[in-house]
Amino acid sequence: MHDYLIEMLECPACHGKLAWTISERRGGRIESAEARCVGCAASYPVREGIALFLTPDLPRNDLWEQTAGRLSRYLGEHPEIERQLMDVPLDALAPADQFFRALVLEERGNYAEAQAAAGLAYPGLYTPQYLACHESQMACIVEQLRASDGPVIDLASGRCSLVEVLARRLGQPVVATDFSPRALRRDRQWLEFLGLYDRVSLLSFDARRTPFRDGAVKTLTTNLGLPNIAEPGNLLRELRRVVSGTFWAVSHFYAEGDEVNATAIHEAGLAPLLFRRSALELFAAAGWQVEVVNSQKGRALPTPRSELLGGAGIDGFPVAETVLEWCVLVAR
Ligand SMILES: C[S@@+](CC[C@H](N)C(=O)[O-])C[C@H]1O[C@@H](n2cnc3c(N)ncnc32)[C@H](O)[C@@H]1O
Repeated sequence: MHDYLIEMLECPACHGKLAWTISERRGGRIESAEARCVGCAASYPVREGIALFLTPDLPRNDLWEQTAGRLSRYLGEHPEIERQLMDVPLDALAPADQFFRALVLEERGNYAEAQAAAGLAYPGLYTPQYLACHESQMACIVEQLRASDGPVIDLASGRCSLVEVLARRLGQPVVATDFSPRALRRDRQWLEFLGLYDRVSLLSFDARRTPFRDGAVKTLTTNLGLPNIAEPGNLLRELRRVVSGTFWAVSHFYAEGDEVNATAIHEAGLAPLLFRRSALELFAAAGWQVEVVNSQKGRALPTPRSELLGGAGIDGFPVAETVLEWCVLVAR
């Protein structure tokens, strides 16, 4: 993490001040340190440049941790499938398998080939409208942020799609965050490969209990990050506490009448922020003034399944063909 973050941070558990002991710096950033809360004595380390502000009391369903190494182990036990996945020309694979090959290449540290495999997979996994609508929302945020200064904090950054776009196209520093330290370790290597790591800090925390002081965040973004976070009411109240500027959220919404997807989404417990009306109501209830910008609709299909890996899937939703409304939620 970069030094400028220190003055924005506090103890996520009790909001106390932090006393910092920095043991290693590299290239203008803190590589290794300990931040100790002067109030409750909780300790938060910085390791491999990643600041870890997780609190032990919040349950975390960290899918990155749960699935880590699973694919490589499976291929180790099934060498014939590994050969069919890894040793054939990329364009001989189904799109889902191209994507899984990209994940294996990433795990092996072969980022250039992983990038090529993922680049080939996406047009086969998503409809042209899905990709165009998504691209347009990220471009919309970039245009809006051109005039701003100060760091951009990105929430639930996952595979860093928006962070990558922001770091490439904007001059200001970017902070990638996720409650999965494993996701951020992967992101560090990915950003290093892309030559973008210099501009990005990595911070691990649960979005429902962030380590930011009241009003410390001027610009918050997220790319499809909200629906996956549990307790959306608490989440939006916590974000209201820390954001004194604007929250830009790339979002997509399902139609109210889309029974098949709605049933599956409800069963997965993801409903509130995947439907426009309930999302806007939750923002308002948490004290935000919110508007919908750059709204556009695009056809979406379930992502096709793997042909080699027992029908493994990529995205859980949609479960049936639908039309999604894409937009940026602008909340102040
Ligand atoms: C689908 S990704 C979002 C896509 C991502 N923003 C991108 O641009 O590639 C969702 C991420 O949210 C993270 N997440 C889920 N619950 C969280 C929470 N309570 N706090 C912080 N991150 C969370 C997951 O670890 C996952 O990486």
